[in-house]
Amino acid sequence: MKINLNRLLLSLSYTLDFVEMDVLGVTSNHSKRVAYIANIIGKYLGMSEEERFDLVACAILHDNGVTKYMLDLASQAKREKRKIILENVKEHCIIGEENIRNYPFLTDVTNVIKYHHENYDGTGFFQIKGDNIPLMSQLIFIGDKLDNIFDLKTTNYNKINKVNTFIKNNTSKLYSPKIVDAFMEVSKKPCFWLDLNDNFINNAIRITLPNIDLDMSWHDLEKITEIFSFIIDNKSEFTLKHSQGLANKAKIMGNYYKKDKEEIIKLKIAANLHDIGKLAISNDIIDKPGELNEEELYLIKQHTYLSRVSLSKIKGFEDITEWACNHHEKLDGSGYPFGLTGDKLDFNSRLIMCLDIYQALMEERPYRKGLTHEKSMVILKNMGDNGLIDVNIIKDIDKVFSIK
Ligand SMILES: [Fe+2]
Ligand SMILES: [Fe+2]
Ligand SMILES: [Fe+2]
Ligand SMILES: [Fe+2]
Repeated sequence: MKINLNRLLLSLSYTLDFVEMDVLGVTSNHSKRVAYIANIIGKYLGMSEEERFDLVACAILHDNGVTKYMLDLASQAKREKRKIILENVKEHCIIGEENIRNYPFLTDVTNVIKYHHENYDGTGFFQIKGDNIPLMSQLIFIGDKLDNIFDLKTTNYNKINKVNTFIKNNTSKLYSPKIVDAFMEVSKKPCFWLDLNDNFINNAIRITLPNIDLDMSWHDLEKITEIFSFIIDNKSEFTLKHSQGLANKAKIMGNYYKKDKEEIIKLKIAANLHDIGKLAISNDIIDKPGELNEEELYLIKQHTYLSRVSLSKIKGFEDITEWACNHHEKLDGSGYPFGLTGDKLDFNSRLIMCLDIYQALMEERPYRKGLTHEKSMVILKNMGDNGLIDVNIIKDIDKVFSIK
């Protein structure tokens, strides 16, 4: 199937941005603005379509390595200090680089994520200096810093002047003279600043994005979504294997039901991405050691809605979106976020619903230890008897996973 991977990433970036928002207070569409700025300067500097295509991908994924450990460090600090702490955690560059190792880039992007915080004068995390810093890293760095400092979702005459002064003052310190010149040139046009506006950025990025469709198999797409499952699972130490564990169980059950290869891969993709909306939920709630209060429950219940917002934009993912995003619905209509009833929930949605509960019960949570297969089955069967989940699927799960 032909797919523009950058469009896929942009759909998923909606939730990725929340990780930074949670800790840094960075605003919506941050990674889109970083991608836009990097791409426009890259084009001005004569980068090829393929290079810019990869540049956009790296820009969207630039902070994918921000994990629970760093979120913890930052969240202990006062909000105004969080940005400084997070930006000083060098590990997120290393982890981020490592996470995307298997992504199908078109060009060589080695160390682009790793060095996205290097200052041109060599005073960054890794003391890489001058043009030893990959050009793509330099372009991501300029967009990232500007949006963090100046919040470019809205701009006005004064703000634009401040940005320009900041850039000029940091020539040869943070940024290469070549990039400063290029920035000054492309930002002369009013459209540059307007494009960054929250209302216009989606359209702007669609128009300026290099149009490269790749022939991808479902297997290739599964590998890409695996990268996301890793990022999602890493948000909390209690879910380190949740999406990956669910994908594995979905595959085993798919084989048990003798589903064809493509459907099994799609089930795994649904499992990899089902909780992507959780990226948008604060760790204060996800990792809360006690029971959630009504307000916190209200917030956490938003996650499947947000997963749907992300996934429903992806062409070809129509059934995957259903299976992934119905996982907290219940057959009697008491689930969320839509309160769908059994007649609206297809077999694979029901399967992921049951497996998600089973997987979660066996994992440790802040308020309890992981349960055994037997104890988990008691809970699942109870839910089945109460008309919440599919009793036949529960029996099959018991058959397949009980250790005889
Ligand atoms: Fe970063
Ligand atoms: Fe950022
Ligand atoms: Fe969930
Ligand atoms: Fe889940």
